[in-house]
Amino acid sequence: MAGYDGHRGWLYYLAADPSRRGEGIGSALVAEAERRLAALGCPKVQLMVRSDNESVFAFYDARAYTRESVGVTGKRLVADV
Ligand SMILES: CC(C)(COP(=O)(O)OP(=O)(O)OC[C@H]1O[C@@H](n2cnc3c(N)ncnc32)[C@H](O)[C@@H]1OP(=O)(O)O)[C@@H](O)C(=O)NCCC(=O)NCCS
Repeated sequence: MAGYDGHRGWLYYLAADPSRRGEGIGSALVAEAERRLAALGCPKVQLMVRSDNESVFAFYDARAYTRESVGVTGKRLVADV
């Protein structure tokens, strides 16, 4: 899932079925999301990754993403059931 808020583009929920990982599906999804965001005039794409998910950071490192030092804060507006 990708979204453009008029300021930045965001990627969410990237995943490939565990039985199909390593076949280029994740790379193709990211490339297509970047293409569609750029076509909307989006200047930058970013995403949140759990800090202990090193393999996903490495996946994005290899695709020219730069790790950034930011914290995330949040508040549920609807109870998590
Ligand atoms: C991150 C994820 C989407 C990558 O999808 P994918 O289809 O496996 O990605 P690709 O095949 O395009 O590339 C996988 C990379 O891992 C390597 N790889 C090789 N075998 C692999 C395997 N069996 N499983 C995973 N990755 C493998 C590939 O070589 C490639 O690295 P490189 O191109 O940088 O050298 C997938 O691992 C995933 O669904 N992870 C769990 C969900 C998750 O944590 N999503 C991130 C939320 S922020």
